[in-house]
Amino acid sequence: MAETISQWSVIMIVLSGLALLAGVYFIRTGNREAHMRAMILASALATVFLVLYLTRLGLGYEKKYIGPNRAAYFALLISHVILAAANLPLALGALWHARNGLKAAGNLGNIDAPAARAHFNRHRAWVRWTVPVWLYVAATGWIIYALLHNYGEVIKG
Ligand code: HEM
Repeated sequence: MAETISQWSVIMIVLSGLALLAGVYFIRTGNREAHMRAMILASALATVFLVLYLTRLGLGYEKKYIGPNRAAYFALLISHVILAAANLPLALGALWHARNGLKAAGNLGNIDAPAARAHFNRHRAWVRWTVPVWLYVAATGWIIYALLHNYGEVIKG
């Protein structure tokens, strides 16, 4: 049961990373509507991940890494955990400024309206950090899962 939750949580984090990449592609190609949908989907998938992750923690399921190069594994794990915690406020900030920009603009065709511009400039400033952090967390989450799958030993649960 806990192993299944763990599997689904990693599927969710990988899908959220893919939705994020799609969202970046859409805004680069000027499709704002698709950008918004992809990013809302990425955020929803990340929320599902968080719920599954916290459920797994609540169940007390844990694996210990018993493979080679433990120092490198811990560096990976610690950077992943710190940036995963940072990703939540970063994503909320990005969404908040986008939402305020959309409210001020009225619609996504009007984002250069003076009232909306400042919000979208802030959105751009936030996402400069949000996107790389999110991608790092998604990629390393999958790597850690794969490493524990091969070199992990269940210590609880
Ligand atoms: C956490 C979720 C989101 C992330 C990570 C994200 C990411 C991005 C990125 C990477 C850019 C390009 C920035 C640049 O060109 O420098 C961008 C621009 C933009 N985003 Fe988002 N976005 C998110 C959510 C949203 C939502 C929900 C909306 C719609 C309400 C939205 C509307 C826009 C618009 C209109 C632009 C163009 C801004 C401009 O050209 O000044 N974004 N976003």
